[in-house]
Amino acid sequence: MALRRVLSPLLLILIINFCYPTQAIDQDDLLVVAVASSENDGYNRFIRSLKVYGYKYEIYGLGQESTNAEQRMKIVRDNLVRYKDDKKKIILYTDAYNVIFTQGPVFVLDKFEGLKPARIVFGAEDKCWPDENLQYDYPMVGSNEKRFLNSAGFMGYASDIYEMITSQDDIKDEQIFFTKVFLDESSRNKWSIVLDKRADVFMNLNGAINELQLPANGDDVYVHNSWTDSIPTVIQGNGSAQKSLNYLSNYIARTWSTNEGCLQCKESLFDVTQIDDLMQWPMVYIGLFIEFPTPFLREYFEKIMKLTYPKQRLSILIHNQVRVDEYLASLKSYDTTEAEARQQAIHECQEDKCDYLFILDSIAHIDHPDTLIKLIAANRTVVAPMLLRPGQTWSNFWGDYSDAGYYQRSPDYMDFINYKKMGLFNVPHIAHSYLINGSFLQRFTPTYVDAQIDPDVKLCQSLRDAGYFMYITNELNYGHLIDTDNFNISLIQPELYEIFNNVKDWKARYLHPDYHKALEKDAIIEQPCPDVYWFPFLSHEFTEHFINLMETFNQWSGAAHNDARLAGGYENVPTDDIHMTQVGLQEHWLFILRDIVQPIQQKVFTGYYSDPPKAVLNFIVRYMPDRQNRLRPHHDASTYTVNLALNDAGKDFEGGGCRFLRYNCSVTSTRRGWALMQPGRLTHLHEGLPVTKGIRYIMVSFVDP
Ligand SMILES: *[C@@H]1O[C@H](CO)[C@@H](O)[C@H](O)[C@H]1NC(C)=O
Ligand SMILES: *[C@@H]1O[C@H](CO)[C@@H](O)[C@H](O)[C@H]1NC(C)=O
Ligand SMILES: *[C@@H]1O[C@H](CO)[C@@H](O)[C@H](O)[C@H]1NC(C)=O
Ligand SMILES: *[C@@H]1O[C@H](CO)[C@@H](O)[C@H](O)[C@H]1NC(C)=O
Ligand SMILES: *[C@@H]1O[C@H](CO)[C@@H](O)[C@H](O)[C@H]1NC(C)=O
Repeated sequence: MALRRVLSPLLLILIINFCYPTQAIDQDDLLVVAVASSENDGYNRFIRSLKVYGYKYEIYGLGQESTNAEQRMKIVRDNLVRYKDDKKKIILYTDAYNVIFTQGPVFVLDKFEGLKPARIVFGAEDKCWPDENLQYDYPMVGSNEKRFLNSAGFMGYASDIYEMITSQDDIKDEQIFFTKVFLDESSRNKWSIVLDKRADVFMNLNGAINELQLPANGDDVYVHNSWTDSIPTVIQGNGSAQKSLNYLSNYIARTWSTNEGCLQCKESLFDVTQIDDLMQWPMVYIGLFIEFPTPFLREYFEKIMKLTYPKQRLSILIHNQVRVDEYLASLKSYDTTEAEARQQAIHECQEDKCDYLFILDSIAHIDHPDTLIKLIAANRTVVAPMLLRPGQTWSNFWGDYSDAGYYQRSPDYMDFINYKKMGLFNVPHIAHSYLINGSFLQRFTPTYVDAQIDPDVKLCQSLRDAGYFMYITNELNYGHLIDTDNFNISLIQPELYEIFNNVKDWKARYLHPDYHKALEKDAIIEQPCPDVYWFPFLSHEFTEHFINLMETFNQWSGAAHNDARLAGGYENVPTDDIHMTQVGLQEHWLFILRDIVQPIQQKVFTGYYSDPPKAVLNFIVRYMPDRQNRLRPHHDASTYTVNLALNDAGKDFEGGGCRFLRYNCSVTSTRRGWALMQPGRLTHLHEGLPVTKGIRYIMVSFVDP
């Protein structure tokens, strides 16, 4: 090492000249060639990477059948014949579907020069196939080198390559043929064939993904093989290594920048909003699948209706396996299995030549109205908006899958779902909501139907196997997933019970729209009587569903002094009521007291903090002239009491209200969905004023008795 420092520049040049006696190859002499019969996403990705780095390339056999090696090699021969005498040109042959280039031509040629005196270089790997017994015929290599030939990629002088591939009439199997050529010492020497044992050019991902790292040079992410300590350029991953290649494809070949993030999100976007005439917008079929009882279906439909897209260009297909809901009664439905119905949706789109098929399961709530426009803009074969169960790591995509085909987490999964990495990502599995390009469906029919596996798993498998990609986008917060796990449709008003499983949706539906305003820093909370606070609490819909639940349940206590529901069996100031314990909502109500009421309590009665709030008695009270219509003055057995008005004074009933005797102050025009909160026991002796007409309902909690 110390020696190097004293070397003069002149000496360095001399040494380099000595190592590379031939003239450097001009980058225009490098030609990438590949055989492809048709274009799929894998092919387009390959071509994109060639363009990114400015390679010259020729693709042979488009539109021709080339399913086997014999056909492929014939096509290569027929085309390379024109270069058969070219002793300057360097041909780099590779697979066209499962390859990404990650460095430019100058870099590759430099590596090729480094492998001189080789005139042909083959990719190498750690596995000897298809005949393991041949491993003993291979020359030994260093412990961190790759010993066995892989025929998926090779490069060399055009004249040598042509000679080599025409040295036998028919090539039935590339791997076997080239292995033989290499293992035969005379042919190996004849064309100076060398294996790229340190992966200087070709990197085959089979079983080798753990050797790789993705460092960045400035903005540019590249592949470094830390095992062979090389920077390979031609990254190949077919068969079981395809998923590794797809993983890398989210970063390499300028799809990702360390500073700017996702680069491929900005490429070839299709902005429909540029189309002025709404009737010219692409026709989108929306396939709705309601396969399980799902809470918050009304919101699901409302959000679809809110999509910023011309309604004339949307057509809705529904598959419903659940009891017919009021929203579904008028809509078309298939009497088929889930897989068949999903297949049918594809079929309908194909028949009618729809431009896009947008799949939306009932658990997929699209919260962002621009979602459809954004998905179209991504211009991908299949693209899904990232949806999560709020606060959980559960999502509608997989980062990776096991060899058995099951879910597996990828190293970047958490970064996606936490929005640490935002953009468009190739992933192996998507579900519940995704957009499929309709012109793609004219060329290919993905399949859902399989007796052994779930429709979604089958779909993704069929796309992957055909070389089509599924992307997930998290550029916006598109929406979320509903949890149906404990949804019990035998309950009356089952959504009221969903505060634990789907708290976001519960609050969106049942929290008073002004509740959050009361929590704002400068908000003043009304005080209709001294130390009686009045705040917007729960929504109109809540009160409606809640009363409906209680009236259907209908086990009102009758306001008797003897009450078996109570520990002492006796109530001094009884009301005509139903306890939350009777309808299975006690835990729910305690959660509400803690999560929704307590923040208000702390705002108005500062310095009192008791967490969690305790309340044995949470109950709905019914006042009506025929039964109990008033309550005599009393103190509540509570530190503070919450009293929610459930219906409309002056409309649903007349009279009623609450009077605080010490202050001679009454609250009579109570507001539906609003609660009163006042201290119990000492200062706020109060009475329930008589209801003269109709029925008045209130919901009462004695907090911290
Ligand atoms: C991978 O590619 C090689 C060469 O292109 C091919 O012979 C082999 O069958 C492929 N393997 C799979 C599993 O597709
Ligand atoms: C959409 O992508 C395809 C390639 O997949 C490309 O040919 C087309 O130009 C793109 N559309 C737009 C509007 O960029
Ligand atoms: C669907 O994808 C193809 C490429 O496969 C692209 O050319 C086309 O623009 C897309 N279709 C629509 C309607 O955007
Ligand atoms: C669903 O609710 C009904 C009615 O309250 C109840 O009988 C049943 O046990 C509940 N089912 C489950 C799984 O909790
Ligand atoms: C209580 O208030 C009512 C009406 O606000 C008033 O008529 C009455 O005189 C008051 N009673 C006392 C004792 O102040």
